[in-house]
Amino acid sequence: TIDQKVAELLSKMTLEEKIGQMVQYSGFEYATGPQKSNSAAVLEEIKKGKVGSMLNVAGAGETRAFQKLAQQSRLKIPLLFGQDVIHGYRTTFPVNLGQAASWDLGMIERSERIAATEASAYGIHWTFAPMVDVARDPRWGRVMEGSGEDTYLGTQIGLARIKGFQGKGLGSLDAVMACAKHFAAYGAAVGGRDYNSVDMSLRQLNETYLPPFKAAAEAGVATFMNSFNDINGIPATANTYIQRDLLKGKWNYKGFVVSDWGSIGEMIPHGYAKDAGEAAEKAVLGGSDMDMESRVYMAELPKLVKEGKVDAKFVDDAAGRILAKKFEMGLFDDPYRFSDEKRQKEQTDNQENRKFGREFGSKSIVLLKNKENILPLSKNVKTVALIGPFGKETVANHGFWSIAFKDDNQRIVSQFDGIKNQLDKSSTLLYAKGCNVDDQDRSMFAEAVETAKKADVVIMTLGEGHAMSGEAKSRSNIGFSGVQEELLKEIMKTGKPVVLMINAGRPLIFNWAADHVPAIMYTWWLGTEAGNSIADVLFGAINPGGKLPMSFPRTEGQIPVYYNHYNTGRPAKNNTDRNYVSAYIDLDNDPKFPFGYGLSYTNFKYSDMALSSVSLKGNQTLTVSVTVSNTGKYDGEEVVQLYIRDLFGKVVRPVKDLKGFQKIFIKKGESRKVDFKLTPEDLKFFDNDLNYDWESGDFDIMIGTNSQEVQTKRIAWIK
Ligand code: IFM
Repeated sequence: TIDQKVAELLSKMTLEEKIGQMVQYSGFEYATGPQKSNSAAVLEEIKKGKVGSMLNVAGAGETRAFQKLAQQSRLKIPLLFGQDVIHGYRTTFPVNLGQAASWDLGMIERSERIAATEASAYGIHWTFAPMVDVARDPRWGRVMEGSGEDTYLGTQIGLARIKGFQGKGLGSLDAVMACAKHFAAYGAAVGGRDYNSVDMSLRQLNETYLPPFKAAAEAGVATFMNSFNDINGIPATANTYIQRDLLKGKWNYKGFVVSDWGSIGEMIPHGYAKDAGEAAEKAVLGGSDMDMESRVYMAELPKLVKEGKVDAKFVDDAAGRILAKKFEMGLFDDPYRFSDEKRQKEQTDNQENRKFGREFGSKSIVLLKNKENILPLSKNVKTVALIGPFGKETVANHGFWSIAFKDDNQRIVSQFDGIKNQLDKSSTLLYAKGCNVDDQDRSMFAEAVETAKKADVVIMTLGEGHAMSGEAKSRSNIGFSGVQEELLKEIMKTGKPVVLMINAGRPLIFNWAADHVPAIMYTWWLGTEAGNSIADVLFGAINPGGKLPMSFPRTEGQIPVYYNHYNTGRPAKNNTDRNYVSAYIDLDNDPKFPFGYGLSYTNFKYSDMALSSVSLKGNQTLTVSVTVSNTGKYDGEEVVQLYIRDLFGKVVRPVKDLKGFQKIFIKKGESRKVDFKLTPEDLKFFDNDLNYDWESGDFDIMIGTNSQEVQTKRIAWIK
């Protein structure tokens, strides 16, 4: 068995060699953190068996070259190659929050299958994904990489991603090890500022932030990465409660945990370790198995073990967990099995993958507004003007974290090209940049206005820069950057019909646009095929069906605003109720666009909501059904959403909680009945003693097209 092989190998290893397995360095070209590698020294360390893994080393040739160095070491233990394969590899897909807006678990899984196939063909064994951090604060730039604000949706998406990455299982040539990150609660950083602290009740932590991780562990995710933040004063990197008591204890997780970049060393500025030695000691005792670029394990652990400060069994356990994965990946049978130039070539510019990317891009778009059905556009509009700083961009369409694709701009379909390709030959597409992404230069306004005046329809492409969301990209003002909103106002003055496409990695605030522009599509960053995906929706080849995975705030002052909040003792009756209730005197309570919201070119009508019973006992199953009719002019997809509310509890419960959803396709004029099943498992919650159970009582069952527009029926469920 693998356990026996690991034990046998460990018995031959010196302490330094074991610690070597716990060391990860970054390659030299694409650093994804602040520290620069000292290349020559690292190469020597590899030859001595003092390195277990490299990140940011990619390509069949490059990984082979590094693996050869490892084969010069005494025990010839192969290296693991890790990389951030976040939303695609060579073929990039929508940024993850955009993917989440598709609510399409099948497509999400498929996208990771493709990403894994491409990445593994480039010699990669391990992706640092999925990020399953629940996030309620759009100021935090990393919302882009996650699935938004909801625990249930985030859990389902995380599981789909893991399935996609790990495919038929570790050891298959087209599977990469997945990594559930960032453990834990990174998405709750105070003020949405990256790397910031997290202070929350253990009840909240367990109920809202940990379930996607627990589900990932149960689903066999190969690895975990911990997070930069402290949780209630203890850095996650050394947090024995989450890593030892929960992950490796209660959850019985057998994979390994890698630190985030430099996070072990960062416990010194955190004020949790006085020096590198203490940082290494606390991290290893706290359950961090691999040191990503802090460079303290190799420097400090041998001494700490010899002095008896760290029991050697912790080193054996960590090294053993890492070695087990190398065995599972088949690397001891053939360390070069993933370094295959032929496969790499097949997976470069793979047309099938691009085809899928195009469709996935369209399915991630959320239609926010479509006054008087201005969309879809006809392909024979005589003159169309595309205006805005993103119109001819190529590389921006990748969004942040597209590491494998740095230099090949020409292969990315710009919005201009995508639209041009679909317009009739007799039509004209004009373009004006109008302004830059993020400065105060208004000198291009006049030309843009002139261009708009010549057009029958204006498509504006605005938002935030593609590198304005992602790691270390927190923003305190999350509107369109620079002078883009001013440009929009100038163009609107022409009186031309305007369609606005919003490019962003996070929910932005755009009240003026939302109130004045007749048609708005949220297009995120859609990846390699962005321009085609957008044009497919603009011209109606694909009817948009995306739904927001996060609430869109009205102002930054409203943050955090999320749908599954508590009721308070003085809930406001509506947006205008300010009479000694929990409200702002200067702002509505609800978000500008709610969680789960998104329009279609067609209309869906919900009717005949029915429950199998209104009075249930014990372990019964409740069936909730509803009929959805497509009453409009187009075939289309709808995400039917099921929420519950537990009306009274020993701790207060959210006003709504997503418990199920189904994405269904309905032809125009047709109806479909949709069934959901609920069991007491869906009613469970954590109390303040961290018991996880349900209580007898009354529950509201809600079903609808978004988190605000629901039909409700009440039931009683007795234990
Ligand atoms: O995987 C990432 C992580 O999400 C943030 N810090 C750097 C890591 C490696 O690139």
